[in-house]
Amino acid sequence: MSGFDPYAGIPPGDENDPGELPVFAEEIDLNAEQVSQPGPIVAGEGDYVLHADDLAAGYFPGVNILNGCSLTAKDGELVGIIGPNGAGKSTLLKAMFGLVRVTSGRVTLRGREITNLRADALVKEGVGFVPQTNNVFPSLTIEENFQVGCYQNPKLFTEQFDRVAAIFPTMAERRKQRAGSLSGGERQMVAMGRALMMNPSVLLLDEPSAGLSPALQDEVFVNVKGINAAGVTVVIVEQNAARCLQIVDRGYVLDQGTNAYTGTGRELANDPKVIELYLGTLAQA
Ligand SMILES: Nc1ncnc2c1ncn2[C@@H]1O[C@H](COP(=O)(O)OP(=O)(O)OP(=O)(O)O)[C@@H](O)[C@H]1O
Ligand SMILES: [Mg+2]
Repeated sequence: MSGFDPYAGIPPGDENDPGELPVFAEEIDLNAEQVSQPGPIVAGEGDYVLHADDLAAGYFPGVNILNGCSLTAKDGELVGIIGPNGAGKSTLLKAMFGLVRVTSGRVTLRGREITNLRADALVKEGVGFVPQTNNVFPSLTIEENFQVGCYQNPKLFTEQFDRVAAIFPTMAERRKQRAGSLSGGERQMVAMGRALMMNPSVLLLDEPSAGLSPALQDEVFVNVKGINAAGVTVVIVEQNAARCLQIVDRGYVLDQGTNAYTGTGRELANDPKVIELYLGTLAQA
């Protein structure tokens, strides 16, 4: 990517001027040691594609946002994470994706230890991540965003573009349009498409329906279901808790950096405590 100028051709003051480039890795503690290779197989982890076990993690030394937070996802599962604002949902995804330092606990991927493994190494291992914000490069076209998605293996582009185009046909039709000029829902499609370009087997999605109209939210949920049905294990954080619990196999309610409730989507949606404490205020479908 050297010599690549994402601002090229954008005059100052242009409405598509991104201002600042999105920084996906702002929370990384650059001084902390990160791991560049997955560790050995951990005994007893064989059942899980992804397992976050008793994590403590945070942004500043000595201040943990996650405190004993755990999550499992089995092959092909669709797993949801809900909870109030500030509960640590995004932090959990970022901790599993090597963007927040895990200070204790362990993360495994298909049985191998990946605690504090670098995000680029996780992408190589088949993990895709769509952050909650700043998840497209606004000055790049849709097609270029997809190219960025497979920069680790550019040869994949043509084949993967066709796959992603089958899921998001309008994005393929408008491939030369700048992502910055798209609507919120369209940007989410680009962000998901970008993450799918490396053909991940596990996809971490942070609030893909946030800020969208109910109709567009529905479209996102249908897309997520479709991606999962194609065999991708999905972990999705959602602000639309009620809708999320309808589509997931299992869900986690996080509160104050730890697990509050866990169960199937149906169990959680019908649990009086979950309804009283979390769905009343969160379920604004
Ligand atoms: N980059 C950061 N630096 C320092 N603290 C942060 C950072 N990002 C999040 N936090 C803090 O971590 C806590 C959990 O934030 P997080 O973003 O994980 O919550 P969330 O459950 O995703 O909330 P929301 O539903 O609003 O997205 C909050 O108190 C937040 O202020
Ligand atoms: Mg969040």
